[in-house]
Amino acid sequence: TPNVQALAADEKKLTAEIMERYIRPEMNSDDVFSGDSSKEIPVIDMSRLLDEMSREEEASKLKHACQEWGFFQVVNHGVAEKVIEEMKDNIKGFFSLPLQEREEVAQVPGDLEGYGQAFVHSEEQKLDWADILVLFTQPPHFRNFKHWPAQPPTFRDSLESYSSELQKVAHCILGFMATNLDINREKISELLFESQTVRMNYYPPCANAHDKVVGFTPHSDAAGLTLLLQVSPVAGLQIRRNGKWFPVMPLSGALVVNIGDILEILTNGRYKSIEHKAVINAKEERISIAAFHSPSLGKTMGPLAEIVDKETPLFKSLSMQEYAKLVFSQKLNGKSIIELMKL
Ligand code: SIN
Ligand code: FE2
Repeated sequence: TPNVQALAADEKKLTAEIMERYIRPEMNSDDVFSGDSSKEIPVIDMSRLLDEMSREEEASKLKHACQEWGFFQVVNHGVAEKVIEEMKDNIKGFFSLPLQEREEVAQVPGDLEGYGQAFVHSEEQKLDWADILVLFTQPPHFRNFKHWPAQPPTFRDSLESYSSELQKVAHCILGFMATNLDINREKISELLFESQTVRMNYYPPCANAHDKVVGFTPHSDAAGLTLLLQVSPVAGLQIRRNGKWFPVMPLSGALVVNIGDILEILTNGRYKSIEHKAVINAKEERISIAAFHSPSLGKTMGPLAEIVDKETPLFKSLSMQEYAKLVFSQKLNGKSIIELMKL
């Protein structure tokens, strides 16, 4: 698959034949929620969760957000502004390097990490209008520095700080989720706390038929809990709810949190992963950074014993190795992984 940033920068490269692979005739904008979605999507204030005086009230907001939305924004999450701003500058810096320098960390066939495009399963499959950089960030001994950009020079340090700060936020949110679910905090946060993968997305503008071109195919996240930073102040992320697509507008200083398939499985469906996609802007580029938190490969994952001692398990239990195999054998398509995990 071609580098999308290079395609977008050179109209001559964009022949009708190439463009054809990105155009999805079925896409239309009629199904976008017509109201003000930022008034609807929950915003959780983490400082209120940490303050005893407001904890109960905010925890009940969190419970509602998890049960009814599966997607919310978190503010006052405690990650220093400097850590976030440096991460933003470094990823913008990486995507502004000449192609040849970006390709120093290019994906190698068979590898999940590096700079390139989303995995394609067939010649007929439509392509996403995006370039991505995927890196294993936690635990630290999982880091493969050959895939980590050496430019900008502060990139690696910045990602290390960002990664560990986000892991703390994930840990904290999972703890409050566990309390809300009436299960042992340690069980759920220990399980999901162990591994983190970061995916940095670059969506070039697309003047040509941008409403029929998709940045990120509709999918739910195969991970447990995702924390997303919308680096650019440009709309793009949309979540599916009651048959409509709701834009998640970038909120300054916020992280977007969403429930992934693993958390749906662990909670035996009490919390559900939500389908979402990224749409393209005609004039402006957009960058986002997703941090996925999942159990480590040595673990087995299925509905938590504390939940299914009182109800029927809805999902299989699988080792994380087998689960990862299942995920990578599937073409990204809505909630297809969850369907396969159902008993
Ligand atoms: C994602 O689903 O991880 C990407 C969404 C986005 O770019 O906002
Ligand atoms: Fe996603």
